[in-house]
Amino acid sequence: MDRSLFVRHAKQIVQVCARSERQLRGKAMNELAVLTASSDDAQGVSLVVAEDGSISDIGRDVELIAKYGDHRFGREIDATDCCVLPGFVDAHTHPVWDGDRVHEFALKLAGATYMDIHEAGGGIAYTVKATRRASEERLYDLLRDRLAQMTRAGTTLVECKSGYGLDKESEMKMLRAIERARRDARVGISATYCGAHSIPKGMTEEAATDDVIHVQLPEMRRMMARGELHVDNVDVFCEKGVFGVESTRRILSAGKEIGLQINFHGDELHPMGAAELGVELGAHAISHLEEISADGIRAMAESDSVAVLLPTTAYILRLKQPPAREMIEKGVIVALGSDFNPNAYCLSMPLVMHLACVNMRLTLAEALAAATINAAAALGQSDKRGSIEVGKMADLVIIKAPRWEHIVYQFGCHSGVIKHVIKDGCVIVE
Ligand code: NIG
Ligand code: FE
Repeated sequence: MDRSLFVRHAKQIVQVCARSERQLRGKAMNELAVLTASSDDAQGVSLVVAEDGSISDIGRDVELIAKYGDHRFGREIDATDCCVLPGFVDAHTHPVWDGDRVHEFALKLAGATYMDIHEAGGGIAYTVKATRRASEERLYDLLRDRLAQMTRAGTTLVECKSGYGLDKESEMKMLRAIERARRDARVGISATYCGAHSIPKGMTEEAATDDVIHVQLPEMRRMMARGELHVDNVDVFCEKGVFGVESTRRILSAGKEIGLQINFHGDELHPMGAAELGVELGAHAISHLEEISADGIRAMAESDSVAVLLPTTAYILRLKQPPAREMIEKGVIVALGSDFNPNAYCLSMPLVMHLACVNMRLTLAEALAAATINAAAALGQSDKRGSIEVGKMADLVIIKAPRWEHIVYQFGCHSGVIKHVIKDGCVIVE
């Protein structure tokens, strides 16, 4: 399939990185590489994609049109009055489930906390009941529709967790739905096994931990060996009243032993020392971190573990925000995710960036770095994705706006601003 593409006349190409950086920390998050049409250059800037879907050239219209004027491309896009950005990477989602919780939204608005609802048998347990009952086909259909909405908002790579099955059969059903989407959907997927998302009703933490390690993980490994599944990451909800630090350590270590990247929920509602644990275990990513300790920040700043911040969670649960400014200033690699789940029903990375700017006080440039190169780093894919550089895959968002910042500034209605979304050189949103 010929994926060659010529995008010309753009106002800006926001490369994010231009020196093959695998992640951006501290001040570098504010110094994004942006190629801008000069005011006297009426023609703008251009980008060339090779037949294999990788970026092969970036430059000024005058140079690239002279160089490729006679070349026949699979597709050409006139980006007059548009800006080109890297496709957004959503580093944390729970997109496979049946049973929404709109009724709980009303309870939370009336003052119930996340843990009040969890302890009363609602929350994750409510979704587990409905997801266990749902057929694999239905879960796949729901997932496919959600992924399509994400891509319309500019997401080109998304982490997808299981975690509403909590037993071997239902967790594998969820992973099979993710696998089918991984093969068929037009968005990139990083698959995460999250069987330790909650303690199943009637089980102790120890029994649930044993079930994950001795029953679910071995089954998943067999399916992976047979080529039926590809799973990238292992996750645990490390939280007081869910999985404690020792169970979390056991599960994550068992996952790492079978080759999975560690990518888990920690320090969300209570300080658990999860950041420190993640660094010790060599985690690719630790999510939430509203309650991270000073030692945790120090440990993460000295490591390559990525802090995946989730602005929708603190917003919807009215929690305190994670100390994002301090993390960035101390040198932690900060990324963003939508945390799409029945508690936080948000499929849009532009809205997530907007919330990160307003509520976590990120700058616009920091939010974009966090939603592209750093989110790709959280998933172990920043060597191929997350920036617009020669040699990387062409995952792009083209917006109709005079400056790229409009994608964050105009919140809640992307259909007006997003013109095209491109994955591996193919236009997936027209
Ligand atoms: O990341 N905190 C744990 N997991 C999800 C919520 C899942 C749910 O409530 O269904 C989160 O916010
Ligand atoms: Fe989550």
